[in-house]
Amino acid sequence: MAVYLNNAATTWPKPEPVARAVYDFMTRAGANLARGAAAKRDIGTMDMVMSCREKLAALFGGHENADPRYVTFASNVTESLNIVLKGFLKPGMRVLTTSMEHNASMRPLRRLETQGVAVTVLQCDAEGVLPLADLRETLENDRYDMMILTHASNVCGTVQDLSGIADICRGYGVPLVLDSAQTAGVLPIDATALNLAALCFTGHKGLFGPQGTGGILWRPDFAEATGWFVEGGTGSYSHLEFHPDKMPDKFEAGTPNLPGIAGLNAALDWLAEEGIGKIHVREHDLAQRLLDGLAKLPGVRFAGRTTMKDRLAVIAVNFEGSDNGILASELVDRAGIETRPGLHCAPTAHRTLGTSPHGALRLSPGYFNTEADIDLCLETLAGILKIPAK
Ligand SMILES: Cc1ncc(COP(=O)(O)O)c(C=O)c1O
Repeated sequence: MAVYLNNAATTWPKPEPVARAVYDFMTRAGANLARGAAAKRDIGTMDMVMSCREKLAALFGGHENADPRYVTFASNVTESLNIVLKGFLKPGMRVLTTSMEHNASMRPLRRLETQGVAVTVLQCDAEGVLPLADLRETLENDRYDMMILTHASNVCGTVQDLSGIADICRGYGVPLVLDSAQTAGVLPIDATALNLAALCFTGHKGLFGPQGTGGILWRPDFAEATGWFVEGGTGSYSHLEFHPDKMPDKFEAGTPNLPGIAGLNAALDWLAEEGIGKIHVREHDLAQRLLDGLAKLPGVRFAGRTTMKDRLAVIAVNFEGSDNGILASELVDRAGIETRPGLHCAPTAHRTLGTSPHGALRLSPGYFNTEADIDLCLETLAGILKIPAK
């Protein structure tokens, strides 16, 4: 039986109702979206997709009546970030980001840089925190057209001061785009109160939905200012040979991942019932236990902070004299413990944390782990490092 400590990659297992909703959609309910004859199954599919949009708008938009048309479905947060960055930024524009970003933003930004977009990367400190004074000073000295920020590090779990950053961006009139890959469904985010231009999310991590789901919650004026690059059938405005600029169709050409959306819809119900706060407290407690145990192992070096303050249940470590890749494969071989070594698609974050080029062993407990899982991981690590577990 696997002991899964890789929830920062994707949460696992998914709750039963999520898997059941995907199965049910694929075997019974699944019509295409807006591409039928208004049969009962066509209407059921439309209702399901609309209900999922409404739940996402309410979850991220700060209130029950947030406009569901401004939710765009995408395959994952990577696609969402590409839609926003490549749709909004034009040659001559200037974009600000941090040294803790995932390649999901960094790679599109580097591509845009070759096309004439100026990219400024603000250096975070050794715990992965963006100093607010540096942000303020940068915005005081130069004009920027957008800031793109990872809410929490996928390497070391550090959570940025989002409201502080959002206040500064608002003060300088800079649209703030959020990569919420690690925090959507984990921490409350009110995009309306924060005045986010776009909140990009993935469905398969803290939201507990299927892989292949994700999307964007837009601020309406920012959606209007953003261009689109995928064009085709939408099941609407079929008399037009040009792609419609109406939301939500503007950014959603082609048949969406409907089984995935059915699963995400069920996941949002499950999350609401279980309670985001309760899930977060449980994950936090498991991570604290892990952190305390790791700190007792000799030769341990944490990447980022050594406490659970403003941090998710994501911990990256190295042990003096040990290769993190070998540790990860030993954990699997000896006790079926699944983690993730290496650079975690975030090379600049590892440079910031001082763990480049070899990366670190990332351990990310989740809601379905037990204390016994954490203890087994600590004992197994102690055995690999050939020291008695304390
Ligand atoms: C901070 C961050 N951004 C982006 C991504 C990319 O997520 P996805 O593969 O779901 O697009 C991840 C995934 O690990 C992440 O942690």
